[in-house]
Amino acid sequence: MKKRVTKAIFPVAGLGTRFLPATKAIPKEIMMLVDRPLIQYAIDEARAAGIKEFIFVTSRGKSALEDYFDEAPQLEATLRRDGKQELLEVLKSTNMDSGAIAYLRQHQALGLGHAVWCARRLIADEPFAVILPDDVIAADKPCLQQMVEAYAETGGNMVATMEVPYDQVSSYGVLDVERTLGAVIKARGMVEKPAAGEAPSNLAVIGRYILTPKVLRNLDRREAGAGGEIQLTDAIAEEIARSDNVYGYRFQGHRYDCGSKSGFLRATLAFGLARPELRADLEAFIDELYAARKVAQ
Ligand code: G1P
Repeated sequence: MKKRVTKAIFPVAGLGTRFLPATKAIPKEIMMLVDRPLIQYAIDEARAAGIKEFIFVTSRGKSALEDYFDEAPQLEATLRRDGKQELLEVLKSTNMDSGAIAYLRQHQALGLGHAVWCARRLIADEPFAVILPDDVIAADKPCLQQMVEAYAETGGNMVATMEVPYDQVSSYGVLDVERTLGAVIKARGMVEKPAAGEAPSNLAVIGRYILTPKVLRNLDRREAGAGGEIQLTDAIAEEIARSDNVYGYRFQGHRYDCGSKSGFLRATLAFGLARPELRADLEAFIDELYAARKVAQ
């Protein structure tokens, strides 16, 4: 029987320089989509997939994240006193059981592979998930849950994947496809940020992974790859040659790149429109904007 995936790593050490000056004082992962910080979407998705242990790889200046998942006795007492039951319920989803969450620091920004490697002792010898909170995925069935179900059949290593325009492949890890079995794609290779024209396909890796502990061992060598960084993609690709068990999973859902300003704004709009209490107001505003633009033309 395959071991269940109950641990997830959340690499959140990045400086978020694309969002300066906002990220000068707050971690990017605390920036909010509608009314919840980015990290909450990642945690909810992990919980839905059966994750019980949450490992955050952080860096200096990220203590707001630790506070966010802590109890807030004063705030809770005030809400209780004022009979704000609904808000107390909302807060519950942000609390973590003691021992369910671990924080460790990546002391140097050496790349995604290195960040994941920092958690090796907490993973030990189990399969584990990695979630990149910048990639927010709206889906009826949360993306990682879709993957856990597919992984129950395949085992091995699995990365979320989707097609991107060819002129964008150099921003991603890219799969070389051996064969397609429905939503599952058997990989023959994987390359991080290939130059345009050298990409083996336009199937990009999106920030959801289920990995074997062997990948962590591959990272022990700490070899630098694309951009001079230690790449997770390279450590996974090594398993293709060694174990021939690397799969892409074409998830159902819409991915927003919340690592970019326009992606974040798109997600804000889409998640706002999905809220029944905001929809009518936002739609009216969009109509107004559109009409004003037409008049201006
Ligand atoms: C990382 C991974 C890359 C993946 C991407 C998905 O890149 O290294 O393989 O395609 O996330 O968002 P980054 O966006 O951190 O440069």
